[in-house]
Amino acid sequence: MLVRCCRVKLSVWAALCVLVLGWFYVFPAYRLPSDKEIVEEVLGLGEAWKKNQTGIDLYRNLLTECCNPRWMFSVTKENAPIGKVLWYDGEYYYSHTVNNETYSIFVQTTPLKPLKKCAVVGNGGILRHSKCGRDIDQADFVMRCNLPPLTKEYLADVGNKTHLVTANPSIIEKRFQGLFWSRKAFVDYLKAYGSSFIYMPAFSMRPGTDPSLRAYYAITDSPSNLTMLFANPDFLRNVGKFWKARGVHAMRLSTGLFLVSLALGMCDEVTVYGFWPFSIGLDGQPISHHYYDNILPGKWFHAMPEEFVQLWHLHKSGTLRVKVGSCRPQSEGN
Ligand SMILES: *[C@@H]1O[C@H](CO)[C@@H](O)[C@H](O)[C@H]1NC(C)=O
Ligand SMILES: *[C@@H]1O[C@H](CO)[C@@H](O)[C@H](O)[C@H]1NC(C)=O
Ligand SMILES: *[C@@H]1O[C@H](CO)[C@@H](O)[C@H](O)[C@H]1NC(C)=O
Ligand SMILES: *[C@@H]1O[C@H](CO)[C@@H](O)[C@H](O)[C@H]1NC(C)=O
Repeated sequence: MLVRCCRVKLSVWAALCVLVLGWFYVFPAYRLPSDKEIVEEVLGLGEAWKKNQTGIDLYRNLLTECCNPRWMFSVTKENAPIGKVLWYDGEYYYSHTVNNETYSIFVQTTPLKPLKKCAVVGNGGILRHSKCGRDIDQADFVMRCNLPPLTKEYLADVGNKTHLVTANPSIIEKRFQGLFWSRKAFVDYLKAYGSSFIYMPAFSMRPGTDPSLRAYYAITDSPSNLTMLFANPDFLRNVGKFWKARGVHAMRLSTGLFLVSLALGMCDEVTVYGFWPFSIGLDGQPISHHYYDNILPGKWFHAMPEEFVQLWHLHKSGTLRVKVGSCRPQSEGN
């Protein structure tokens, strides 16, 4: 009896052991909280938030040391002269050597200045009915991800000011037929971003280079005030390492975290909106993936919940502010 009991116990322990090892293999070092736990945590902290200058200075120094965001964020004639080899950060062993043609389309030097109030706007469904538009538009520098729609119906929730917007090369392929046919739809679409910077990772993945260059020519051949910035693969790689050392196990960071990294390195105050990679909102109800649609991303590509946990740590320490839930109208008190 005793022997049998022990044997059962042993195999149970063995099974547990395998399970735990398997778990650590898939999710190294720690378990991510569930959506519900996150909601409870966020609600528990409430609106309380206090700016922590020590944290802000610390992260600016750390990021400047590793990644020099202001100078390295985009490729420029200064940091990528003719002959410079740009190693793609999203490919193994693939590079582009800057030549006359590519050199000529890089900006001379960094167009970015140190800034006071910055808003980084993700596209999460949490923004829907948030009424955060006015808050966002009040920032000195507004960054948005992947050419989000800024039409009237979203104005109250997401605002309409943009200083920098990222564009994934795949969106050029999917939405604008790779710009092989009409460029008008593309150029018209971009009018929503006024005279902002368009930021494209042209040297990250091999198939992304040509669409990015075509987007550059579409913009410069049209009477627009947009400026194309190409992401510097060295910057993306260094920022990736920076967050990896802090527990983000993604194959690739989301665009949002790159922008947050830029903002932390450059701005006195960073507020982050629309970052909520969970399936339920603060009221426990299901929410859509984006504020404008409900198309889910590939599952293993980005580690969005891990990224959120990082941002939440920074929020709790007062280094940046993560806005979830609704923004109350400031003028009406409360
Ligand atoms: C402020 O930030 C620093 C650096 O991240 C941290 O060590 C400290 O605990 C923070 N202070 C508060 C009150 O959270
Ligand atoms: C690149 O441009 C420079 C100056 O415009 C010119 O002298 C040089 O011949 C060009 N090289 C190539 C390979 O076109
Ligand atoms: C943004 O919205 C405001 C109203 O809040 C409007 O006055 C302004 O013209 C809009 N700007 C753009 C570029 O659409
Ligand atoms: C570009 O900016 C100038 C000056 O702000 C403005 O007059 C012009 O209308 C803008 N052009 C376009 C196409 O937006």
